Amino acid sequence: MTLLIRVSKSFQNPLLCRFLSESSALRKGPESKEECKWLYGSSQEILSVVRGHVEVRQNFISEEEENALFKEVETGLRKKRYEFDHWDDAIHGYRETERLQWGVTSESILRRVRAVAFPEGSPLLGPIHVLDLDKEGYIKPHIDSVKFCGSTIAGLSLLSDSVMRLVPENKSTDWVDMLLSRRSLYILRDDARFKFTHEILKDEESFFSGQKVARHRRISVICRNLPV
Ligand code: OGA
Ligand code: MN
Repeated sequence: MTLLIRVSKSFQNPLLCRFLSESSALRKGPESKEECKWLYGSSQEILSVVRGHVEVRQNFISEEEENALFKEVETGLRKKRYEFDHWDDAIHGYRETERLQWGVTSESILRRVRAVAFPEGSPLLGPIHVLDLDKEGYIKPHIDSVKFCGSTIAGLSLLSDSVMRLVPENKSTDWVDMLLSRRSLYILRDDARFKFTHEILKDEESFFSGQKVARHRRISVICRNLPV
């Protein structure tokens, strides 16, 4: 699937988390302690802009479910070669496929994804996008096509942890990092999807809250809705 995605540049240095301090965790309550496990940003202000528009559900699928999805997508991916050479591509070191029909286990996982991620009755993009990033692969900052995709993007991460960075289109010194742990589901909605670029950091730059997040081969299974 060729997604028309826009590339923009951002060069930020990872800074240490300042939101895990005892006092701020106490002040914000247990919900924020949970959020600190996967959300981290350049300031409290930018976090409050994305709050409610981003979500990571850790361990959304079991190891068995990850295996079932992997087996099913591997058949389609195996036939393709990783693309490394297109300097203007938004994605480096990847191969991709899309799938309309799924086996019983995968279909039940995708039903759960749809149920938690999309507003009821929201028309969905039929084929599910499967993106296989090589260990050396990464996704540059972009915004998914507003012509072809709607308000919500939901992705399952298989095989590897990774860091997704969001950067506001109108203020490139701010940033928000999301730790996408293996077998998690992430959801980007509304402003986080339209007003921020998103990217998946390359292994050398893959840190969350100052901690190295080793990037191995990673497969994402991405559901999108249609524009209204
Ligand atoms: C994309 C994208 C993120 C992911 O394909 O447009 O941003 O989780 N993918 O692979
Ligand atoms: Mn995207």
